[in-house]
Amino acid sequence: MTTSATEAARFWDGHHAAHLTDGEPRPNVRLAEVAARLIPGRALALGSGPGGDALWPARRGWHVTAADISAVALAHLARRARALGLGGRITGARHDLSATFPAGSFDLVSAHYLHTSFPLPRDAVLRQAAQALSPGGRLLVVEHGSVAPWSWHQDPAAVPALAAPPLDPARWTVERADALPRRATGPGGRTAEVVDHLLLIRRTR
Ligand SMILES: C[S@@+](CC[C@H](N)C(=O)[O-])C[C@H]1O[C@@H](n2cnc3c(N)ncnc32)[C@H](O)[C@@H]1O
Repeated sequence: MTTSATEAARFWDGHHAAHLTDGEPRPNVRLAEVAARLIPGRALALGSGPGGDALWPARRGWHVTAADISAVALAHLARRARALGLGGRITGARHDLSATFPAGSFDLVSAHYLHTSFPLPRDAVLRQAAQALSPGGRLLVVEHGSVAPWSWHQDPAAVPALAAPPLDPARWTVERADALPRRATGPGGRTAEVVDHLLLIRRTR
């Protein structure tokens, strides 16, 4: 790994080690909405963290590859998956997505809050994600459209604009590009209205 990638991995390992809990990590609410109407197949969760976005689909019959730069997050996910009897449905894959991307083709690729203060070529990663879709597969991207008051990163300028990566319209179609309000719960049960940016892209062939 490059120096920057090593620093990024160290940062995210420290972040996850400080925030891991024994409770079941929740899935992204948009993932639950979108994936509930899909037939389970092969899923890839990019920047999966400790695993709500991998465990939820695995419980519903998906075979999930969980990719993250953090060995701490992936080890926690593996322990939890085994404890829930889902070890056979979840494969952890350590990747610095700015350098490598998981092999295979997928019916659903998700990237939720794949925000980092280290270099990450977002468009290139999302293009690879779109290319990794099987025909008919979907890419769900959810990003912060506003900064929650308790966020570790309080720079509103760091909230990226919602934009689909450049893709051939003959092979991919943007099904949804929405800005959606959500009541979020932060540390200590504090709540606030936040905005999610959602992008749903389908590979047509
Ligand atoms: C803001 S967290 C979001 C975690 C999870 N998707 C969620 O919605 O709760 C960003 C995640 O991306 C991972 N990450 C950051 N940079 C990465 C990189 N270059 N390659 C792969 N994963 C990365 C972090 O370890 C972390 O799990």
